Amino acid sequence: PNYSQLIATGSYLPERVLDNHELSTWVDTSDEWIVARTGIHSRHLAAEGQGSVDMATRAAERALAAAGLQATDIDLIIVATTTPDQIFPSTACLVQARLGNQGAAAFDVQAVCTGFIYALATADQFLRSGAATTALVIGVETMSRIVDWQDRSTCILFGDGAGAVILRAAQQPGILSTHLHADGRYAELLQVPQAESHLTMQGNAVFRMAVRTLGDIVQETLSANGLQSSDIDWLVPHQANIRIIQATAEKLALPMERVVVTVGKHGNVSAASVPLALDHAVQRNCFRPGQLLLLEAFGGGFTWGSALLRW
Ligand code: ACO
Repeated sequence: PNYSQLIATGSYLPERVLDNHELSTWVDTSDEWIVARTGIHSRHLAAEGQGSVDMATRAAERALAAAGLQATDIDLIIVATTTPDQIFPSTACLVQARLGNQGAAAFDVQAVCTGFIYALATADQFLRSGAATTALVIGVETMSRIVDWQDRSTCILFGDGAGAVILRAAQQPGILSTHLHADGRYAELLQVPQAESHLTMQGNAVFRMAVRTLGDIVQETLSANGLQSSDIDWLVPHQANIRIIQATAEKLALPMERVVVTVGKHGNVSAASVPLALDHAVQRNCFRPGQLLLLEAFGGGFTWGSALLRW
């Protein structure tokens, strides 16, 4: 097998919904300001005592059920998260135990909002090389735990949740190419400076960098595959801000009907946002066999990446 195929998706969102109106009673902001600047209307928040392991396990169970597989069929588990419940064991090992799998390789990947793309690219390499046959790849975040709920410039942006996919080694693509990058010089623009502190961000600078960099990686992905923007059927972007998503869609000359948008109801769920968007579209039967999907993300590090796949 020289390729990997994405055969199923699953996701989990906590029950508690925090909308902009309620948030406006916590900090000096308004529904109008948040919607105009970000496209976000509401976000989900993990319950007291609920963490990344719990949400990741639920998303994984749904992906396994959709694939018709048992946890014991999995031989590789990769979890992308920047909000693990514990320093160690890794979220992947804790989820593995909850699912009832023993023996699969299991580890976490930390690339903040680009985490799922990094994890997907890593799993793809394992499957292409023959090192694994069936991979569970999860993006999960409990952002509410690292957000400063008194900082109106950041707390309006983030939400909690998990998304999961199952990848299988295959003779046909599947994943056509993945592209990963990072530039560690920009740490101070977006970071959680210490283990026990809150997320800080210079939103404006991050915004400008995200738009430019995502434009570049879309072009890189098209060039690597000898494609034109008109060949792309669906854009499945990281969900940070509707204006960033619209800018990337414009670069592709893709109408917004062909862009999976969940930011309005999920907010920015960091590493979980792309797999949550994927599952959202799958549940609504958006993708047709043979269509080309472009997944992309940009986040803290800075990190950025993309994956092109044939459905
Ligand atoms: N409600 C009302 N006013 C606000 C709020 C708020 N929630 N937050 C900030 N303001 C005010 C500011 O104080 C400022 O006021 P001033 O002009 O009097 O100083 C004004 O609104 C404008 O603030 P800006 O920060 O310039 O607003 P901007 O248009 O840049 O929007 C935002 C801010 C939404 C954060 C935007 O910059 C953004 O989305 N940035 C990118 C975030 C992102 O994509 N992160 C990516 C990855 S995240 C990750 O990796 C974890």
